[in-house]
Amino acid sequence: MRNPQGPILIAWASRTGNTANLAQRILEILVREELPAVLVPAKDVDWASLQDWSALVAGSPTYGSGDLHADWDQPERQLRDVDLSGWPGAVFGCGNPRYVTPWWAVDILANRLKNCGAHLLVPPYKADTLTGFRVRDADGWIEDLARELHRVRDEES
Ligand SMILES: Cc1cc2nc3c(=O)[nH]c(=O)nc-3n(C[C@H](O)[C@H](O)[C@H](O)COP(=O)(O)O)c2cc1C
Repeated sequence: MRNPQGPILIAWASRTGNTANLAQRILEILVREELPAVLVPAKDVDWASLQDWSALVAGSPTYGSGDLHADWDQPERQLRDVDLSGWPGAVFGCGNPRYVTPWWAVDILANRLKNCGAHLLVPPYKADTLTGFRVRDADGWIEDLARELHRVRDEES
């Protein structure tokens, strides 16, 4: 269940602030584009009652050996039992291609959402923090996401 005209849930985790900044920028642009959206740390989301939201945008940096941020461990397990059929979604995260497991956390989130039945509106966004991370580099991706979210909302209104 979801609320097609409800707010968009941006669930995120971050250790050193990069993915947090990206999540904040996603919120800013979605709100600027007149899309209701809320930022919630992944560890604080009530994954058993998602019915108020219209879409899920999930973000994690990659740590360890290609792992999700630790705050996503439990949510990712809880999500395995959640039916996201018909849900629009998107995933994002920061990583560094110097590691042998570049941006794997973003791929884990993308696969989790897809395996739960969600459809990704835009390709995953993988921010490169090796070459100097500028949060505004994501603006084009976020604007594409906003356009797709509007399209879905228009179709369902
Ligand atoms: C101990 C450690 C392990 C990391 N492992 C990976 C990795 O496997 N893959 C990757 O893409 N980035 C890896 N990174 C890079 C982080 O994902 C990158 O610094 C990111 O910007 C952190 O995001 P945050 O500021 O939101 O925590 C690692 C960083 C550290 C410090």
